Amino acid sequence: METKIIKIDQDNLDHKLMQEAGDLIAAGELVAFPTETVYGLGGDALDPEASKKIYSAKGRPSDNPLIVHISDFSDLERIAKTVPEDARKLSDAFWPGPLTMIVEKGDAVPYATTGGMDTVAVRMPNHPIALDLIRRSGCLIAAPSANTSGRPSPTEAAHVAEDLSGKIAMIIDGGPVGIGIESTIIDLTEDTPMVLRPGYITPQMLSKVLGKEVVIDPGIIAADDTRKPKAPGMKYKHYAPKADMAIVDGTRKHVIAKINELVASHRDDGKKIAVIATEETKQFYDADVVLSMGSRADEDSIAHELYRVDVIFSESFSTPRIGQAIMNRMLKAAGHQVIDTHVKYDKIIFVAQTGTCREQMAKGIMNDFVLKVPMEIEARGLVVQFPEPVNQKAEAVLISNGISTEGMVSTQLEESDITETTMVFTMESSQRERIIESFADIDPEQVFVLSQYVGDELEILDPYGGTLQSYGLCYESLRATLKKLVKLLNANT
Ligand code: TXA
Ligand code: MG
Repeated sequence: METKIIKIDQDNLDHKLMQEAGDLIAAGELVAFPTETVYGLGGDALDPEASKKIYSAKGRPSDNPLIVHISDFSDLERIAKTVPEDARKLSDAFWPGPLTMIVEKGDAVPYATTGGMDTVAVRMPNHPIALDLIRRSGCLIAAPSANTSGRPSPTEAAHVAEDLSGKIAMIIDGGPVGIGIESTIIDLTEDTPMVLRPGYITPQMLSKVLGKEVVIDPGIIAADDTRKPKAPGMKYKHYAPKADMAIVDGTRKHVIAKINELVASHRDDGKKIAVIATEETKQFYDADVVLSMGSRADEDSIAHELYRVDVIFSESFSTPRIGQAIMNRMLKAAGHQVIDTHVKYDKIIFVAQTGTCREQMAKGIMNDFVLKVPMEIEARGLVVQFPEPVNQKAEAVLISNGISTEGMVSTQLEESDITETTMVFTMESSQRERIIESFADIDPEQVFVLSQYVGDELEILDPYGGTLQSYGLCYESLRATLKKLVKLLNANT
C-alpha cells in the first residue's frame, strides 16, 4: 500500500485534505495524525475490522487495548456503560487534554478495540488536527501511538513514516508535537481512582480536582515482574530505543564524571554514543550526540527524542512535576539499568569553632548510636591555636550522660582531613562557608550544615559562656538532631 503523506498547518486547516483524511477513516482505513502528546495511528473505533488493521500495522499484541479518541463529551456517554461523576469532574478540568480515562464499556464498543476487556479507555485530545479529523470522519477514533510495537512513541511525522510507511493509507504531518510524552491514564472503575500510566497530568493534579485520594498502580513502579501493571501496554519493554541505555544517578558532579568515563571506554570499543543531559550540563560532555532534554528549569521541554545510536547514557531526571512520568519511561527504556554514583561515605567530621565543645559533644553522642555501616567519627575546630581539653561544662554534661571524654582534645581542621568519602557537618552555616572558602579543592557537596541536613530549622547554638543548664540543653538538641542523622544514614545504606 502506498502511504500518502499530507502536510497540514494546524492553525490554518486545509479543509479539502482534512476531509480526505476523514473519509479514509470512515471507509475503514488507517490514518496517522498528531495529537498534543504523540502521533496516533487512527481507525474507526467502533469497527472491529479497523481495530484489527491497527494491531497488524503496529505489530501489536491484540490483547493490548486501544484508546478511543472523542471530540465531544457526549461521545463518552455513547460508549461508556455509565459515566462516573469523577469523569465529569476530570473532563471539565482537563479535556481536551493529555488525560485518558478508563470506564466500563458500553455495547457499542467492540472487544476488538478493548483487547477483550469490559472497560474502555477514552480521551479528548487537545489538538486542532485531531479534533477536526474525528469530527470530519463522523467516527470515534481508536488510536494507539503511531509506532511499531516496542519502539518509542513518535513525536514527528518522519518517525511515523519510518515505522509505518507502506502499511497505512495516510500520514498527516502536522509538525512536531508539543508534549512528547503519552497521556496520563486514570482508571475510574475502582473505588479509588488509580493512575495506570504517569504522564503530564500528575496524581496530585487529579487528586486536587477529585477532592480525594488518587493512587498509582503499584505494578508500574516495581522493577521486577512480581506485580503486573493493570494497563496491559505498560508491561512491554516499550519506548525502547534501538540502543543500549543506562541511567546514571547521583549528585551532578559525580554523574558527569561517571558518564564521561563511560563515554571514553565505549568510544574505544568503536561505539556511537549518546548522552542525555540538560541545558545546564550538556557543555560537560563530548559524545557523538549530546541531547539536551531542555532545561531543568523548564520541565515541559524535558521529554522528546531518543534515536539512532548504539549506547545511551542518561543523567537521571527528577523534576518536581513530570519527573516521575519521564523517569518511568526512561527506566523502561534502560531496562531498569541504573548506575548509582552516590558516594559511599566512610567518615564524618563534626566541625565548630574552637574544637572543644559542640563538635566534641557531637562526636561523643554519635559514638553512642549504632550505624549500619560503621563510619569513622572525628571532631575538629576551625580556629585551634593549641590542643586544649574539652570545655569543662561540656565535659560535665557528657559524663553525666555516661559518655567518656577520655582523649578529647581540640584539633585544627586541615584540608587533608577531608577525603572524597568524608562528610563534614558544621554547627553553623557561616562555618560551612568558611570551609568552602578556605579549602578550594573540597567539593562543597560534601560539606553540610548539620541542622539543615536533617531538616531542622534551628542551628545548634554555641552554649559558650552560658550556665551548665544551657550546655545541657545544647546536649539535648544535639542528641535529637544526631538521632535524625543516624536514621538518614541508615536508610541510605
Ligand atoms: O497520548 C496518548 O495516549 C497517545 C495518543 C495517540 O493519544 N496514545 C497512546 O496509545 O499512547 P497506546 O495505545 O500507545 O497506549 C494505550 C495504553 C496501553 O498501555 C494500554 O494497555 C492502555 O492504554 N489501555 C487502553 N485501554 C485500557 C483499558 N481498558 N484498561 C487498561 N489499560 C488500557
Ligand atoms: Mg504506545
